[in-house]
Amino acid sequence: MAKTYRIGLLGLGTVGAGVAGILGDPMARHPLFGCVELYRVGVRSLEKKRAIVMDERLMTTDLEALVADPTVDVIVEVMGGLEPARTLILGAIAQGKHIVTANKALLARHGVEIFQAAQERGVYVMLEAAVCGGIPVIQSLKQSLGANRIVGLMGIVNGTTNYILSRMTREGAEFGTVLLAAQEMGYAEADPTADVDGYDAADKMAILASLAFGEQVALEAVYREGIRGVTRADIAYAAELGFGIKLLGIAQRQGSALRVRVHPTLVPHCHPLAAVQGVTNAVQIVGDPIGEVVFSGPGAGGGATASAVVADVLNVVAALEVAPQRVNPLMEFPYSKVAIVAPMSETVTAFYVRLVAADRPGVIGEIGVTFGRHGVSLEAIIQKNILPNGEAEIVAITQQVQEAAMQAALADLRQVQSLGAIASVFRLL
Ligand code: NAP
Ligand code: HSE
Repeated sequence: MAKTYRIGLLGLGTVGAGVAGILGDPMARHPLFGCVELYRVGVRSLEKKRAIVMDERLMTTDLEALVADPTVDVIVEVMGGLEPARTLILGAIAQGKHIVTANKALLARHGVEIFQAAQERGVYVMLEAAVCGGIPVIQSLKQSLGANRIVGLMGIVNGTTNYILSRMTREGAEFGTVLLAAQEMGYAEADPTADVDGYDAADKMAILASLAFGEQVALEAVYREGIRGVTRADIAYAAELGFGIKLLGIAQRQGSALRVRVHPTLVPHCHPLAAVQGVTNAVQIVGDPIGEVVFSGPGAGGGATASAVVADVLNVVAALEVAPQRVNPLMEFPYSKVAIVAPMSETVTAFYVRLVAADRPGVIGEIGVTFGRHGVSLEAIIQKNILPNGEAEIVAITQQVQEAAMQAALADLRQVQSLGAIASVFRLL
């Protein structure tokens, strides 16, 4: 191999430091590392103390110049955010550079523009690290499962929220304390509300669903709820009923339409996803003819994410070694058309509802009647804790019901003040 491929790295934070660490320590890794050179590293501040010691001559704050440098072959974008990342990536593509990125927020919003520009210019845009950290789910969908018609996929696609929910469940830990720990470990996004409120998971589901079904799923079409409303009381009641609470991303094909959603979900203890703990992610893919395949592994953190980034770099380098002038179609991101995504109101699931109501005879019957008016049948309804103010917590599990009917029933319940307040509503798997 004669050519050395020069890498321009944009960002030297949690992921960037992991990438630089791998590239700087090639021993006992693949021989292709021998033709990869970390050429420049673009950051915001040259003074900042870093997790990795870098040769100062590599460092720059002039990211535009780095991207414009004609000697750079591959731009690795691990700076995050929408701008200037989008402009830098489009600029690099225009100059014929290949892109490796971990930026799901950018791809979920501007993926069409970026992939189209790349296709026109004949360059690669690789994104393994953007979804599920170190788990090779993108390449599997593009290549290893390529013979399948994908029927559906679901999973835990955000490490921070799974870490928070796991520790709240296991230790009864406080939400805020565990979120801080997730930030310290480099799992959370720069703005952790992206994790907590489900935006990061929605970005990933838009990307995964687009790839799995070969149709462009607009981010706005992905239904999204985060984990802020999940309390320790809900976790305890769900556990008593035989469920764990997980933030799940779910994408299904139903006829000509797709359903794509992200929300906290009660997962039966016997389901494989219920056992996925901490920062681990897991994705279950159902395809025809393969059936069910499950991928699991570390979903966030510098090392895991850098593993995916650098593997993408090697894939690009290998492809260029074999065919420098042509793009391998199995490494592209194919969209055939814009997906029709069915509205959430048509989704059918069972629900968990926790109400805080007056502890008086007849309340449970009235709640049942109100649900019944909207065609919502109850699987179970139990009075739990009596609160210090004399009110009672009542937990109901519904049978399968259409979202629209359930929302109408909940709206009706909210009107009947004597029935108290609806504290939590979650869907069951
Ligand atoms: P980070 O720790 O905040 O690092 C961001 C890096 O980018 C920093 O080195 C920063 O420079 C640089 N940067 C940001 N904006 C810049 C600008 N305008 N100009 C110059 N440099 C800029 O972020 P991270 O956790 O590594 O995440 C990076 C990307 O990977 C994000 O897209 C994230 O969503 C994605 N990702 C992260 C993980 C994870 O576990 N952390 C996993 C998968 C994907 P300074 O250091 O000088 O401030
Ligand atoms: N903040 C993200 C997470 C990083 O916690 O899953 C990995 O994409």
